[in-house]
Amino acid sequence: MAAALVAASVLTACGSAESATTATPAPQPTVSLPPTASPEPAAPEQTSATPESTAETTPDPGLDDPAPVAKPQRLTEIAVATPTPAAGGSGRRNPPPAGGVDCATAKCIALTFDDGPGPHTSRLLGMLSSKGARATFFLIGTSVSADPGTARQIANTPGMEIGNHSRTHPELNKVGSAQLRREIVGTHATIKDATGRDATVFRPPYGARNAAVDTMAAEAGEGVILWDVDTLDWKTRSATATRRAVAQEARPGSIVLMHDIHGSTVDAVPGIIDDLQNQGYVLVTVSELLGGTTPGRVYSRR
Ligand code: NI
Repeated sequence: MAAALVAASVLTACGSAESATTATPAPQPTVSLPPTASPEPAAPEQTSATPESTAETTPDPGLDDPAPVAKPQRLTEIAVATPTPAAGGSGRRNPPPAGGVDCATAKCIALTFDDGPGPHTSRLLGMLSSKGARATFFLIGTSVSADPGTARQIANTPGMEIGNHSRTHPELNKVGSAQLRREIVGTHATIKDATGRDATVFRPPYGARNAAVDTMAAEAGEGVILWDVDTLDWKTRSATATRRAVAQEARPGSIVLMHDIHGSTVDAVPGIIDDLQNQGYVLVTVSELLGGTTPGRVYSRR
């Protein structure tokens, strides 16, 4: 069903959905979402590059426009590309972090936190560190520029990984090439300037991607990271529901989607870590989980 991606509605990170509009053939095989995924349509996340309290004032319509897409549908298929060459075909590969866990043998899971840095990020870092858990943070460029100190704090917390989540959080499958470059390559530079670190992973906002997005991520040197466990934390704003979602859907090799801009999500994290560690999971970064990434290649789990 290689062409299904073209017609299918695309599940979107942060929970919103929109139709894929590109007419190019799907370049990769597709995979079904877990059957536990919620069937109901999701409203767009009111995420922002600014703290939640100021979201209404941000001028970027891509960040905070709450208008739902007409009759959005839950994703039936999302693309994965592990069997295919990376976009751009550079042949480069980002190695896993030195000294990391070998997830070919260990029971690994990757917690990921999108849309920061934010006012709850520092508290989250303390929780993760105190429990010996690592995680990956997909940062928004404008938020990094607004709060480079917190971005640096992530980078300086041992074991944490920093990823690129675009500059202004648009649906990247709907922007022109110049904006696409600013959003991905430009944000790579913003993150490097703020943290001294090269992001090696990229997550497209709303999961909205196409071949041009993948190719730009390849140019930035970043693997394209989706997820297989969607906690819908942005929607429930409930620590209990967020913890329950992870408990019900996580399996070895999972990539778990959460958002550290929500206090309720951060409140859920100690329980989530306890649940997973009690089951023998090692909490690792995305690059550890995947044993490194190939720039431009798309991953949704190990
Ligand atoms: Ni996001």
